[in-house]
Amino acid sequence: MNPAEPVTDIANGQTSGTARDTLTVTDNRTGKTYEIPIKHDTIRALDLRQIKVDSGDFGMMTYDPAFTNTAACISRITYIDGDKGILRYRGYEIDELAEKSTYLETAYLLMHGELPTAPQLQEWTANITRHFAVDDSVKKLLESFHPDAHPMGMLVSSVAALSTLYPDAKKIFDANSRREQTFRLIGQTPILAAFAHRHSLGKPYVAPDGNLSYAGNFLNMLFKGTDKHRTDPALERALDILFILHADHEQNCSTSAMRGVGSSDVDPYSAIAAATAALYGPLHGGANEAVLRMLVEIGSVDKVAEFIKHVKNGEKKLMGFGHRVYKNYDPRARIVKNIAYEVFDIMGRNPMIDIALECEKIALNDDYFVTRRLYPNVDFYTGLIYQSMGFPVTMFPVLFAIARTSGWIAQWVEMLADSEQKISRPRQIYLGADKRGYVPMDKRS
Ligand code: CMC
Repeated sequence: MNPAEPVTDIANGQTSGTARDTLTVTDNRTGKTYEIPIKHDTIRALDLRQIKVDSGDFGMMTYDPAFTNTAACISRITYIDGDKGILRYRGYEIDELAEKSTYLETAYLLMHGELPTAPQLQEWTANITRHFAVDDSVKKLLESFHPDAHPMGMLVSSVAALSTLYPDAKKIFDANSRREQTFRLIGQTPILAAFAHRHSLGKPYVAPDGNLSYAGNFLNMLFKGTDKHRTDPALERALDILFILHADHEQNCSTSAMRGVGSSDVDPYSAIAAATAALYGPLHGGANEAVLRMLVEIGSVDKVAEFIKHVKNGEKKLMGFGHRVYKNYDPRARIVKNIAYEVFDIMGRNPMIDIALECEKIALNDDYFVTRRLYPNVDFYTGLIYQSMGFPVTMFPVLFAIARTSGWIAQWVEMLADSEQKISRPRQIYLGADKRGYVPMDKRS
C-alpha cells in the first residue's frame, strides 16, 4: 500500500489520515478505539480478544459458521481465484498439468513443491509401486462387508484399518516414516477401492500389476475378466487426467477434516479415513454420484425444464452446480467436458449427456442461477464419463478419494511443519440454559 494514500473510513465512506497496514475498530459500547495489524489482507482473530466492555470479559470473537470468510492456515500448495476461475497447483495452471503431466508426477509436485526430474519421478513411482499390495487381514475385512455395501463405506473402514498394520505411522514427526506412509497410501488406496468393487461383483480380486501405469493398473484390477475390461490407452489417460483434476483443491471440507483430525497428531491413515468420510457427502465428493442419480430421475431432455422449476422453488438441488469458491465456471469442469467427448468416442455416446447439456443450457440463461453465480462444477460431467467407462455410480466418489489422497497428504505434511498450527479447536457462542439444579424424576413435567 502506498503510505501517502488516504484511508477510507468504512462507517461514513470518508477518507482520513495516512495509510497504514492496520484496521482501526471503534467499539461503540465503550467508545474505545483499537488498531489491529493487517497482514495478507487479513486480521488475526485473536487480536480482537482485547476488545472488552469489562476487564473480566472473555473478549471479542468472530462468528463464522462454515468458515466462509476465515483462513485457518497459510498454504503454499493450491491457489484458487474463484472469481476468475483459476486453479493452480504449486503455481502451475490446472489446464497445463492436465495436458502435460501424469497423476503420479502431479502428486510429487503437490508433495514436494517442484516438478520431479526424470530420476526423481522414477524413484517416486518405484516407491509407490513397491506398495502395490494390501495385507491379507484387510482383504478379509473387505470380504466381511455385505455385497451391496457402498464402496465408500468400505474404503473409509479399510483405510482406517491400515493404521492397525503400520504402528510406525504414529511417528508423524519423523520424515522417513511420513514418506513411507505416503507411498503406502498412494499405492494402496486404489487397491482397496478395486477390491471393494470386485467384492460387490462377487468376483475374485485381481492382483496389482506394477508394470502397468497407475491408472492402467487400477482399471485392470477393477475390470479384468468382466465385460467392462478395456485396455484402451486413451481411457487410461482420461482417468489419469481426472485424477490430476481431483488431486487437490485447497481448504475444502475433506481437506479441512484431514487437517482438523490430523491436528490431534493422529496417524495419517486415521486422518485420511476421516477426510474420506467427509468427501463421501453429496455436497462434496459424493456429488458426482448424486448428479448421475439426478439425471436418471429427470429421465429425458423434455423433463429438464420441469425439474429446474422444482430447483428454483427450493424443492430440489441441481447437483453438480454451484461452488463455495468458484463464482465463475469451474476450470476443471471445462476440461472434464472435453474428456467426456473423448471417452464417448471410444465407448459410445452416453445418452444422458443430452439431459446434462439441457440442464446446463437452461441454468446458464436463467436468472436464478445467473444471479447466484451457479455454474457447473467438476462433478457435473465426471459421472457421465465414469459411467461410460463402466464404473457403477457408487464407485464415483471412490475415484475422487483415490485422486485426493495425494492432496490430503500434502496438506497434512504442510500442517505438521507449520509452527503456528495447534490442535484444531473452534470456539462457540453458548446460548443454552443458564446454571440450574438437577430435577429429580418425580418432579419433572
Ligand atoms: N442448486 C440450486 N440452488 C443452489 C445450488 C444448486 N446446486 N447451489 C447453491 N444454490 C443456491 C442456494 O440455495 C443459495 O440460494 P439462496 O441465496 O436463495 O439461499 C445460493 O445458491 C447460495 O448457495 P449456498 O448454499 O449458500 O452456497 P454454499 O457455498 O454454501 O454451497 C455447494 C456450495 C457446492 C455446497 C452448493 O452449491 C451445492 O450444494 N451444490 C450442489 C452439490 C455439488 O455439486 N457439490 C459439489 C461441489 S464441487 C466438488 C467439491 O469440491 O466438493
